[in-house]
Amino acid sequence: MKEYEIRTRVVVLDEQELSVAEQELIGAARKATESSYSPYSHFQVGVALQLQDGEIILGSNQENASYPVGTCAERTALFWCGANRSDAVITAIAIAAQTKGRFTPTPISPCGMCRQALLETEHRQGFPIRVLLYGGHGTHCIDSVKDLMPLSFSADSMDVELNMS
Ligand code: THU
Repeated sequence: MKEYEIRTRVVVLDEQELSVAEQELIGAARKATESSYSPYSHFQVGVALQLQDGEIILGSNQENASYPVGTCAERTALFWCGANRSDAVITAIAIAAQTKGRFTPTPISPCGMCRQALLETEHRQGFPIRVLLYGGHGTHCIDSVKDLMPLSFSADSMDVELNMS
């Protein structure tokens, strides 16, 4: 038998322990919750993407009466970026969520589908995306999307040369 363990390093920081740029990015994600269209879940998610050139791109969840049609905040921001700033390198993503008028004390983490989408962007750009999960009790920081997605499937998984060696 063989066994291995996969660990994810999560650093929890108070507001004053974050860099000014990170505080701004989290502020932008909090603000982005205001554009959420979520009449079904009443759960407002906001995302801010930090681009290497300094620009910040916002996204929020957009729901639909036909529930599966709706899109998470992460993919709203990510795909807007892909469509309008395909040259950009994303260095960080901040995620915040509120419901019943208050931000969640414990951060929310991207759903599996969004992790897969984020991972492909990270692969494509060849640069890690730092993940900042905002919660009232602290911001959980992860160095790279790949740390959120162990044993992932990617284009490399279909490459015979890479996969069969
Ligand atoms: N949602 C996001 O936008 N991002 C997440 O990371 C988790 C869930 C949205 C989808 C749906 O509009 C609502 O939150 C409830 O699931």
